[in-house]
Amino acid sequence: MTQESTAPGELTTPAPHTAELAEPGAVTLVVPTFNESANIRELLHQIRESVPSRLPCEVVFVDDSTDDTPDVIRAAARDCPFPVTVLHRAEPVGGLGGAVVEGITAATSEWIVVMDGDCQHPPSLVPELVATGKRAGAGLVVASRYIAGGSRAGLAGGYRVAVSRGATWLTKSLFPRRLRGVSDPMSGFFAIRRDDITADTLKPLGYKILLELTVRTRPPHVAEVPFVFQDRFAGESKSSAREGLRFLRHLTGLRAAAPLARMIGFGLIGASGFLPNLLGLWALTRAGLHYVPAEIVANQLGVAWNFVLIEHLLFRDRREHRRFWDRAGRFTLLANADLVLRIPLIALFVHRFGMGALGATALALVTTFVLRFVGTEALVYLPRKAKKART
Ligand code: GDD
Ligand code: MN
Repeated sequence: MTQESTAPGELTTPAPHTAELAEPGAVTLVVPTFNESANIRELLHQIRESVPSRLPCEVVFVDDSTDDTPDVIRAAARDCPFPVTVLHRAEPVGGLGGAVVEGITAATSEWIVVMDGDCQHPPSLVPELVATGKRAGAGLVVASRYIAGGSRAGLAGGYRVAVSRGATWLTKSLFPRRLRGVSDPMSGFFAIRRDDITADTLKPLGYKILLELTVRTRPPHVAEVPFVFQDRFAGESKSSAREGLRFLRHLTGLRAAAPLARMIGFGLIGASGFLPNLLGLWALTRAGLHYVPAEIVANQLGVAWNFVLIEHLLFRDRREHRRFWDRAGRFTLLANADLVLRIPLIALFVHRFGMGALGATALALVTTFVLRFVGTEALVYLPRKAKKART
């Protein structure tokens, strides 16, 4: 990563970290950029017009561009009466979200405002976001398109509006409690108080950094300010269908972080394993195999199906500490142990505790399910100690 910082009006390369703006109430604007050279001058102009007269500020661009955006920033910074820094990342880990976390980590002011580099987020709102946070004693202030006075005017086309609406609805239904009071969890424009967030716990994946922040760090008090999402000044949006898939993966990962939700997911995936299991049994017996070996093989199909889904949907971020075949082997052993254990367990419940066959079977199913879940957590995907934010 290269880093350059400019003192007001000149181009220098001082301190490794951004200017020491210890002034209370000062704000660092964190702006992620990916090939935005045509927007930089306009953005800095708008910031200059509306922020420094009301609030001491600095700007940190976190750049993953493949064009000349960093050079354009350095040149434009010469006309700015506040410090402007460019952190150019050689490796764009975590995409937009990763860039924002890097900017947050580098910022030193009491307040941080995250905003896009294409002028869709009006800088004139920055002082108000910070003032609202101070007034309301909030650690997070979201600029929202979905409260009175806000609008998504700049969201290009009916398709983007529908996607944005659907994503907001889905997200709010998945996290009803954590997102209470946040009408626009998809917003990329928000202010945070430095002391109230721990960037260490964040594992950003793509665009939805505000969602990541609210769900993982649970800021104690959230306020909102309406804003009108502007048209892009120049260039095109970088979001894509691939970004949409990343968002769904991000959502599942966030949801699966809660143990109860993970257990429910584990159960649902387990139940879905009946499908390949029965299909396999049907195909094998039709091919003339005796039903006992057919059962055994078909069962392994169900296990493989479960393993693939569990790896990708539930334990995506806990896979690194064991090799693939180690995890697959352990998972298979646990799944088969479950089957082997079930029969003696039923016998135990019936003979020792005098239960009926049906009740005993149900209880054995639940018992082995819980054992298998706990075993999978502990023996295959052992939760790791507090992981450092990926940089
Ligand atoms: N550093 C970095 N790395 N910046 C990126 C990357 C990346 O991989 N991808 C995009 N950016 C920057 C862009 O250069 C821009 O400054 C900002 O992130 C937003 O990207 P856009 O491509 O303009 O996104 P959008 O307008 O489609 O989406 C915006 O609005 C959405 C709400 O509808 C973003 O603010 C989203 O976060 C928001 O959900
Ligand atoms: Mn944009």
